[in-house]
Amino acid sequence: GGCVRRYCYEDCQATADWLLSQTAVRPLVGIVCGSGLGGLADVLKDQVIFNYKDIPNFPQSTVHGHAGRLVFGTLKGRSCVCMQGRFHLYEGYPIQKITMPMRIFKLLGVETVILTNAAGGLNQDYKVGDIMIIKDHLNMPGFAGNNPLAGPNDERFGVRFPCMSDAYDRELQQLALDVGSELGYSDFLREGVYCVLGGPSFETIAECRMLHKLGADAVGMSTVHEVIVARHCGMRVFALSLITNKAVMDYDSEEKANHEEVLQTGKQRAEQLERLVSTLVTRIEHN
Ligand code: 6GU
Repeated sequence: GGCVRRYCYEDCQATADWLLSQTAVRPLVGIVCGSGLGGLADVLKDQVIFNYKDIPNFPQSTVHGHAGRLVFGTLKGRSCVCMQGRFHLYEGYPIQKITMPMRIFKLLGVETVILTNAAGGLNQDYKVGDIMIIKDHLNMPGFAGNNPLAGPNDERFGVRFPCMSDAYDRELQQLALDVGSELGYSDFLREGVYCVLGGPSFETIAECRMLHKLGADAVGMSTVHEVIVARHCGMRVFALSLITNKAVMDYDSEEKANHEEVLQTGKQRAEQLERLVSTLVTRIEHN
């Protein structure tokens, strides 16, 4: 159909070629900043910045607090490209549009994608402010047929039936644990399973209990679609969740999330999350 065709290989190539004609930066690492985590892009050196609205074929950001900029630059000499603001299913976009930037990354020469998000904690051991290294995911929209790879497959990107049991690179997870330990973050660094839902409404108590029983440690509304498309076209993937609040699991829970405290914790941890990612970037080895 028309929607899918607008994000075909030729369109992605045209967008990538346009970007490559506008900047000399040749990034090997692509980063997607989650809600409140866009500060990472701000620490890049020698920035070349594009507003999404100025990039041919690029989707537009609608969510408040998402900047909507593609930032090229370097982290301690490593060339990166950073999405400041991402696209979500709940904005009403076709799922192919949400994930199109991953294919742009690929055609720019990116080999490793790092994604961050804000998520609700389902694991009862998790605290607000914990950083969870994503080791696996539950793709709930995918169960219902909403997968970004549905539709005609272009072999130039990848195979019809891509494997997802190796979606999250084990070496990068170990490297992040090592880096986190060196930075003194071990007390709040976790490894877990991220569950994506369509949103925009948050989960009911029954839904949270169900997701927890199914093996999810955290729940959110992003990342998984991008991971699927990034893996399809052969990029390495590493992803982190910042646990910004605890999902409500009990009907008689006296616990009321304190929004101010959540924001404050989120803000403090955002800096540490950004340091973790930027340090990780300097340790990644490329071919
Ligand atoms: Cl509790 N749920 C979802 N779906 N997304 C979130 C969240 C919760 N907290 C931050 N993002």
